[in-house]
Amino acid sequence: MDPQTTPVRGARGVGEPLVVIDHVDKHFGDLHVLKDINTTVARGEVVVVIGPSGSGKSTLCRAINRLETIDSGTISIDGRALPSEGRELAILRADVGMVFQSFNLFAHKTVLENVTLAPMKVRRLSKKVAEERGMALLERVGVANQAQKLPAQLSGGQQQRVAIARSLAMEPKLILLDEPTSALDPEMINEVLDVMVGLAKDGMTMVVVTHEMGFARKAADRVVFIADGRIEEEAAPEEFFGNPRSARAKDFLSKILAH
Ligand SMILES: Nc1ncnc2c1ncn2[C@@H]1O[C@H](COP(=O)(O)OP(=O)(O)OP(=O)(O)O)[C@@H](O)[C@H]1O
Ligand SMILES: [Mg+2]
Repeated sequence: MDPQTTPVRGARGVGEPLVVIDHVDKHFGDLHVLKDINTTVARGEVVVVIGPSGSGKSTLCRAINRLETIDSGTISIDGRALPSEGRELAILRADVGMVFQSFNLFAHKTVLENVTLAPMKVRRLSKKVAEERGMALLERVGVANQAQKLPAQLSGGQQQRVAIARSLAMEPKLILLDEPTSALDPEMINEVLDVMVGLAKDGMTMVVVTHEMGFARKAADRVVFIADGRIEEEAAPEEFFGNPRSARAKDFLSKILAH
């Protein structure tokens, strides 16, 4: 098998349910954006979410982090229903890392400060410990030599790797990545995908919205295909890409794989 496409899963094993999404519905006004979503993400599992623009992928991610409310159904993380406010919500946010398409770093803080602020404030780490851990994380994503710079002085790929390090600094149970490479110039995409593959190998639980099918083939345990607010299909990547069952999945794949 080509080493580029050899799956990294298997070495990790996948554990008990970490995220349970049960009969979730969501509307924006008259628009029904999530329709009876049911799925489970196991501890250590890497789930890639794909689907047409406007199908509800970001809304689903945001609902898991409770950046969006849901109308009905339940989402639980590690056996606890999502809290709606207060301290419980702050704890949830610390446990669920989120990386967006636009890197969202604190513009006026250095790279190192970006990765140490929340652990000091929320996890109550001392500055010394937060900086030691922060430097180790920056090392892991390959930007330790940029620690004292401001985000604007970094390339897009470097900034996105800092954003990943920042979310790891909270030692989250799960990381949601919503199109983390789609704002990047092509030559920077792989450096970010390589970091994500490394996380997957290390057993991080990840939900990744991406159109990078190479990543899905290489690192995903499961592909969830969403169309028009509904999970149309979910399957292991080789099954999904090799033998998509629904007409919508076939149509979607023919479009994205055509170029
Ligand atoms: N805050 C909002 N208010 C009203 N409608 C919204 C809001 N956010 C999203 N929508 C609508 O909900 C639908 C789902 O949006 P969502 O962003 O989840 O799609 P997506 O699958 O992430 O799309 P893309 O691939 O373009 O990122 C879209 O029709 C979008 O226009
Ligand atoms: Mg989106």
